[in-house]
Amino acid sequence: MTRPVPHKTIVLTGASDGIGAAAARQLRSSSSSDRMILVGRSVEKTRAVAEETGAAWFTADFTRLDDVRTLAEQIVDVVGDGGIDVLANNAGGIFGDQTPTVDGFEKTMQVNHLAPFLLTNLLLPHLLKVEGAVINTSSIAHRLFGHLNVNDLDNRRRFSPNKAYGDAKLANVLFAKSLHTKFHADGLSAVAFHPGTVQTNFASDSSSIMRLLYRTPLKHLMLIGADKGGETLRWFIEGTPDETWFSGAYYDERRLTTKVNPQANDADLAEALWQRSAELVGIPAP
Ligand SMILES: NC(=O)c1ccc[n+]([C@@H]2O[C@H](COP(=O)([O-])OP(=O)(O)OC[C@H]3O[C@@H](n4cnc5c(N)ncnc54)[C@H](OP(=O)(O)O)[C@@H]3O)[C@@H](O)[C@H]2O)c1
Repeated sequence: MTRPVPHKTIVLTGASDGIGAAAARQLRSSSSSDRMILVGRSVEKTRAVAEETGAAWFTADFTRLDDVRTLAEQIVDVVGDGGIDVLANNAGGIFGDQTPTVDGFEKTMQVNHLAPFLLTNLLLPHLLKVEGAVINTSSIAHRLFGHLNVNDLDNRRRFSPNKAYGDAKLANVLFAKSLHTKFHADGLSAVAFHPGTVQTNFASDSSSIMRLLYRTPLKHLMLIGADKGGETLRWFIEGTPDETWFSGAYYDERRLTTKVNPQANDADLAEALWQRSAELVGIPAP
């Protein structure tokens, strides 16, 4: 019996838990001939989801940019000369007090933005090869708490877990827009979305007030299930850019919305963020 030829290669980060794990399970049921490469931080959790879904898997801790560089090499080894049809940058979360990573950056900004920015750039040739798509799991928090200063991405001057998270999720929106601006003419598409307020492991490491919503019985009243969040992520992953969703846009779940942080429409800020992020992670900016 010949094995079915995979027709899409999907790289999904944050696949070991929550929304990402739910999406991975659903993708396996709906698109069984696609090749999934799952990325998590915990070896045990990532292996468990990968075994359940028959996917390839790797682990990387996004608080270490060297892990991200190794991860990109491992993914490139798997895809060889082939392309990556979808990169879903879903790993992330809200954390505690201002903590520097081994790379010297504030943890929330690194895990949610700098690490996926680096990973995406390292995988870009493979994404461009097949006119692929980059999907950033952002958050409504970008609008509620974000106000970016590219000269202070670490929020050294005024830190709170919510502000750091809002800024990082705003960076996800701006990064998707920049990818669209720079590469859509070459066939690459990019989008950012809020997955809903979802009952997951989110905020478990945080001192944010959001912990109350996610980690107390309130969650049963206020939050949707992880499967629902996974369905939204799956909808973007399986969708056809510019038919199912528009490249360069931000969605509130599946709804195209103009309710965004005003900074999300600032093209100069998007470009400045790209330049600064490239400088920080040590890659050339196009
Ligand atoms: N839940 C919500 O209501 C909500 C709302 C808006 C946006 N979001 C966004 O949705 C995405 C998924 O979150 P979730 O709700 O599914 O939360 P979750 O259950 O906590 O899952 C988070 C995922 O990110 C991974 N991750 C966390 N820190 C990491 C690190 N340092 N390095 C590498 N991977 C790391 C986790 O890996 P391990 O489990 O292996 O540690 C896990 O796979 C996040 O980007 C989050 O900001 C969530």
